[in-house]
Amino acid sequence: MWARSGHRDFPCKECHGTALGGGVHSLKEKSMMLVHHFTESSPGRITLDERQVLEMMDNCRRCHGTEYARWISGGHSATYGAIFLNGKHNAAEQLNADCLRCHGMFYGGTIDSLVTPVSRKGPWSLRDAGRSGEPAIPCLACHRIHTEGSPASAAGYDDPGGIFYSRRPAETAAAFYDRYEKMYIRASALPPLRLREGTREVKVSDDPRGRICFQCHAPGAFHQAGSADDRTPRGVHEGLSCLACHDGHSNDAGESCINCHPAISNCGLDVTTMHTTFAEKGSPHNIHFVRCIDCHTKGIPPRRGARASGPDARERD
Ligand code: HEC
Ligand code: HEC
Ligand code: HEC
Ligand code: HEC
Ligand code: HEC
Ligand code: HEC
Ligand code: HEC
Ligand code: HEC
Repeated sequence: MWARSGHRDFPCKECHGTALGGGVHSLKEKSMMLVHHFTESSPGRITLDERQVLEMMDNCRRCHGTEYARWISGGHSATYGAIFLNGKHNAAEQLNADCLRCHGMFYGGTIDSLVTPVSRKGPWSLRDAGRSGEPAIPCLACHRIHTEGSPASAAGYDDPGGIFYSRRPAETAAAFYDRYEKMYIRASALPPLRLREGTREVKVSDDPRGRICFQCHAPGAFHQAGSADDRTPRGVHEGLSCLACHDGHSNDAGESCINCHPAISNCGLDVTTMHTTFAEKGSPHNIHFVRCIDCHTKGIPPRRGARASGPDARERD
């Protein structure tokens, strides 16, 4: 699979290190492989343990400094300490095995071997205090490496108009690591989200990358919009993918509005200064859910005429 992957141009040690490079643990692991090799006993399915997954991130970082820098600046670099020792969260929701599905997915033990006490009454501590600063959503939570991909190649310069047609259809590089199955599911193979607002079916973007997001930012069991951690856009932005606004690594959405606005503005105002949670945290108009009638409670006002910001995108009755 490596030979068909986007990383095929690099030798194994670029990521896996050498027998000595990975420290004593790695040495032990690799000598076991040697033993299995010569005794021809099968080691079963070889997978990386969490220690190896985390150590490997230094190698990802060496080549993908930009993605690493963005990841560290956003919420997805949250640590074990931040997730499992949060007093407010632990008092409100009983710690349980399923916490590890969305943070700590590579952890080899159980919730009992990780945190103590497993109770809504603290104080809480990690059984291994050294884990506290370790990332709970590492790169490999959303990326599989031994998977089909192609190294980039130069474009054909003779026919600029032909470059578009020579591009391969882009299959997204992202995949979701399923803790229970111990395997990856490609973004495009994840099920689309079915979401309802009351009985109405919400329009959800078909962007496969976005399907990664709502594996964790998920609605409750009844798939009601806005329940649990659901942020699927409704209202003015219904149908947009999370990645239409959020960067895949920093999660920042601040730079995105300009991609569509102000060319698209019904109100003739700069959307970043309007009364939504974009402009102020306490606004009742959540950017994910706000509808025209939330602000225009008495109906949509008539237009005052042509606008300086460009041609009107559309007219409404
Ligand atoms: C660009 C980094 C990279 C390179 C190069 C690389 N690997 Fe891996 N390898 C990984 C990662 C990351 C995993 C964890 C599973 C995954 O992402 O597919 C892994 C997993 C494995 C596993 C465990 C199997 C599993 O499904 O978890 C084996 C065995 C392995 N690699 C062997 C190799 C060999 C042999 C080579 C060279 C021919 C190689 N790797 C090259 C990054 C790499
Ligand atoms: C379905 C996936 C999922 C499960 C299961 C889950 N979380 Fe989370 N967790 C999230 C997401 C997504 C966020 C981001 C919160 C947001 O802004 O919606 C989060 C945020 C957090 C935070 C950050 C602070 C906060 O209150 O938002 C803590 C702490 C946390 N989770 C702990 C836990 C614990 C402990 C459990 C088990 C009782 C758990 N989570 C179960 C997905 C999950
Ligand atoms: C030795 C340098 C090197 C290392 C180490 C490395 N990469 Fe890459 N990676 C590349 C290059 C170069 C590309 C671009 C491939 C291309 O399009 O030519 C790439 C492409 C990717 C892609 C997008 C395309 C694809 O086919 O998968 C992802 C995702 C990725 N790397 C993640 C990772 C992660 C995660 C790690 C750590 C396990 C890692 N890489 C380690 C050099 C590296
Ligand atoms: C929460 C999920 C998530 C995590 C964690 C994550 N990524 Fe990504 N990554 C994505 C998504 C989504 C994309 C966009 C895929 C696409 O456009 O096809 C992506 C794309 C990439 C690409 C390809 C960029 C390109 O322009 O094609 C690289 C390289 C990459 N990630 C590296 C990393 C590294 C290194 C880490 C850890 C520091 C990391 N990612 C952590 C979700 C994630
Ligand atoms: C593996 C589970 C997981 C996946 C997949 C995931 N998230 Fe998160 N996300 C979390 C958790 C947990 C937090 C809260 C971390 C904290 O701050 O304590 C979070 C926080 C966030 C935040 C708020 C903090 C910030 O950085 O601004 C945004 C925005 C966000 N995620 C967007 C996304 C998007 C977009 C995707 C899809 C590309 C995605 N998430 C995929 C688990 C996940
Ligand atoms: C129209 C642009 C847009 C889209 C689409 C969008 N977001 Fe956001 N999101 C934002 C902005 C702006 C913020 C910061 C302001 C705020 O907190 O409301 C934000 C904040 C967040 C936060 C942190 C604040 C909170 O509410 O907990 C999370 C988590 C989040 N987004 C997840 C997602 C997910 C998951 C998706 C896709 C299902 C998504 N967003 C789609 C613009 C967007
Ligand atoms: C991918 C394109 C896209 C992006 C990115 C986007 N929007 Fe929008 N937005 C729209 C569309 C389309 C509408 C009009 C919906 C309609 O007419 O029903 C809209 C409407 C709005 C409205 C209602 C008022 C108006 O002028 O129509 C607000 C407020 C708004 N967006 C804020 C934002 C903010 C803040 C951001 C950046 C975080 C953002 N949008 C990013 C496409 C986008
Ligand atoms: C976050 C609040 C907010 C949302 C959401 C919002 N508007 Fe507005 N809208 C305003 C404000 C504020 C004005 C300026 C009011 C004024 O000038 O009296 C305005 C003005 C307008 C105007 C008059 C523009 C002109 O020519 O003077 C129209 C038409 C309009 N909005 C349509 C819409 C439509 C359609 C939507 C939904 C796609 C929408 N608005 C969503 C706040 C909002």
